[in-house]
Amino acid sequence: MANILEEIGPEGKERYVQEMFNTIAGEYDLMNRVMTAGMLRFWHKAFLQVTGLRPGDHHLDVACGTGDLSRLTARQVGERGHVTGLDFSHEMLAVARKRVEGSPLGARIAWVQGNAMDLPFDDNTFDGASIGFALRNVSDIKKTLSEMARVVRPGSSVVSLEISKPQNPVWRALFFLYFYNIVPLIDRLVMRGRAGRVRPYTYLPHSLTRFPEQQELSEIFREAGLRDVRVIPLSGGMTCLHVGTKPQ
Ligand SMILES: C[S@@+](CC[C@H](N)C(=O)[O-])C[C@H]1O[C@@H](n2cnc3c(N)ncnc32)[C@H](O)[C@@H]1O
Repeated sequence: MANILEEIGPEGKERYVQEMFNTIAGEYDLMNRVMTAGMLRFWHKAFLQVTGLRPGDHHLDVACGTGDLSRLTARQVGERGHVTGLDFSHEMLAVARKRVEGSPLGARIAWVQGNAMDLPFDDNTFDGASIGFALRNVSDIKKTLSEMARVVRPGSSVVSLEISKPQNPVWRALFFLYFYNIVPLIDRLVMRGRAGRVRPYTYLPHSLTRFPEQQELSEIFREAGLRDVRVIPLSGGMTCLHVGTKPQ
């Protein structure tokens, strides 16, 4: 089957992705947890260990979706801290907002609709920035990381948590078997055309095909102006943390 991204082209990607997340927002959290079979909790724990955030900090969660990383970092920065969650899907933001409505955590988080590649913030505003499971979805990775580097203060971390391609050939083959053959079945068996023209669970593996390998992505972090780039594979490299620091 042709890769969806080839069909829609680079210009169509942004519209396709936005439409897709607006469509699946209501079921995103459930599907995410089912598909990752309990590993999400472990990946989130690993993410929290590398943010470098301290109580009172102001964190930016780019492409926050339904707000998983925003809520986690809001706990990390404590009651004196703030988190800004930004996403271009108003439906994903609506779910994120609802999940913390009326809670003390909600009071620490501001939700902003905007584009990851053109962040509506001044230079050196935040004490850290994250992007979770979304670098695959932007049409320009370097631009997104450069924007994140621009808006954090010198010495702060920019962290990506993303699906990745395992380095071990056996594990890679097993993961690809699941990812490219089982996951797309969800479109046929569960979604059954409910998402209209978009096919979210066919798009998902297709979005990994051209995504850079772990070391290539760390090079893009450097090109975006980040230094001391660390690559931390999780679950055998099925996902990966990339951490870079904005130089002083
Ligand atoms: C797979 S979801 C990840 C959500 C969340 N970060 C998480 O960890 O669950 C990807 C999110 O990226 C957002 N997104 C993709 N491209 C974007 C862009 N250019 N600007 C802002 N948000 C974007 C989508 O709307 C979607 O909510």
